[in-house]
Amino acid sequence: EAPSIEVHPSHKLSEINDNIYGGFTEHMGRCIYGGIYDPGNPLSDEHGYRKDVIEALKDLNVPVVRYPGGNFVATYHWLDGVGPRENRPKRPELAWIGVETNEFGTDEFLKWCEVVGTEPYLCLNFGTGTLDEALGWLEYCNSSQDTYYANLRRQNGREEPYNVKYWALGNEMWGPWQVGQMTKEDYAKRAYQWAKALKLLDPSITLILCGQDGLSSWDYYVLKECIKHDIHGLGGDRTKSLIDMHSIHIYTADKDHLPNATAPRAAERAIQMTSSLIDLARIENGVPHGVPRQTICFDEWNVWDPARAPGEQGAEEKYTLSDALAVSVWLNVFIRQSAVVGMANIAQSVNVISPLMTTKEGLVKQTTWWPLLLFSKYMRGHTIALNVRSSEYTGVTNPPWIRGTIETPYLDCSATLSNDGRVNLAVVNIHEEKGFATKINGLKAQKVEVWKVTGQSADAVNTSGSETVTAVKEEEWDGKGMFTFPKLSLTLLRWEI
Ligand code: AHR
Repeated sequence: EAPSIEVHPSHKLSEINDNIYGGFTEHMGRCIYGGIYDPGNPLSDEHGYRKDVIEALKDLNVPVVRYPGGNFVATYHWLDGVGPRENRPKRPELAWIGVETNEFGTDEFLKWCEVVGTEPYLCLNFGTGTLDEALGWLEYCNSSQDTYYANLRRQNGREEPYNVKYWALGNEMWGPWQVGQMTKEDYAKRAYQWAKALKLLDPSITLILCGQDGLSSWDYYVLKECIKHDIHGLGGDRTKSLIDMHSIHIYTADKDHLPNATAPRAAERAIQMTSSLIDLARIENGVPHGVPRQTICFDEWNVWDPARAPGEQGAEEKYTLSDALAVSVWLNVFIRQSAVVGMANIAQSVNVISPLMTTKEGLVKQTTWWPLLLFSKYMRGHTIALNVRSSEYTGVTNPPWIRGTIETPYLDCSATLSNDGRVNLAVVNIHEEKGFATKINGLKAQKVEVWKVTGQSADAVNTSGSETVTAVKEEEWDGKGMFTFPKLSLTLLRWEI
């Protein structure tokens, strides 16, 4: 039987939070130094910011960028990175085993965000850091009072507060690699107390709890202990939870195409589980429903095989067409789960596990850049209902536990209704040999815009001077008959309702 897709434009499921197209810049490999900051390079501006990177991220319309880690943050002292550069100390760096010069720090990052037109999201040091330091950082960034750290910011040349909204209560504190790794009991106790103090200082911030992958007893425990009433009414509403969002991380990868392209579906399961755990914590702690639903912050996601691209060597992945399709499936997952995902951050934005690579002479846009660009440009607004009938892949999946729990169709789809009244249908055909002629029900337009990302083979890559996998706008389709989704492709169809 031929595959079919039924689109229901009048059936809006949920509003998509723009923050699902967030980025992440860590002091790791060439992400900051040589990535967004490259003083002396003719491609950089007077602050040392790479102008081509800024333009690329503007094209991508990145709404929020996480900083400064990642694992890096577990030994990071923000005071090292502010004030006159000549006074900033060089420190041993223990996450990726290097030296941190602190040439680039808080003011450089926050000003860069303003140039890019994006919101900063700062992650607090829960490893070697103290609550005093965290409070000092928040005061430095957000306070307009006549107090020590706010005045230090003024002394460093910035009068107005930056008003950083998003703050993470540590990064991957469950991980054995983490400096200052914690038990879930220790973490939950500390996170709650820090949250209280941080909100006493600035009730307007959004606080993000450090979860694991949404599938662990860590997630269950820390949510249960921390999603509690804001009894102090710090956010102005005692019925709300003191902590606003829960972070999870997953990276997927497999050397074989089909397990690679289907692996991101595991993230969908993780999101569903996390959402249930959040609900459970709310029910157990009597935090009423009706509070915002988009409380999952998927603040590290991507295709990454650390054996292929080790972190200590800068994690410079070379992405294939298969990876681009995997990223497309990742993005479909976020669209399908937009009711509960409030933020997602591709790890990372430049050079490190990234779709965007810098050379001294310019940029290389990897295969994975193109689905990200198409989604970020067009897949906003509302998620709409969709029924998909497609034959299914039944082979090995990675991780294996998604087999049997989630069907794995060859056509992985999501659809949106954007605010300009257009339907956007994203279809990923992961099959290596077959195109699928597909009936699209619910499409009444005679002019359908067609975008495609595809290539010769699953292992096609883009290199400097030879970017063969890109987003191509094809001739309009008249909407009649069947539409064939070619093998190994992402297709985006757009029409007016
Ligand atoms: O993004 C690379 C690293 O992956 C991050 O530093 C860490 O949080 C995760 O393990």
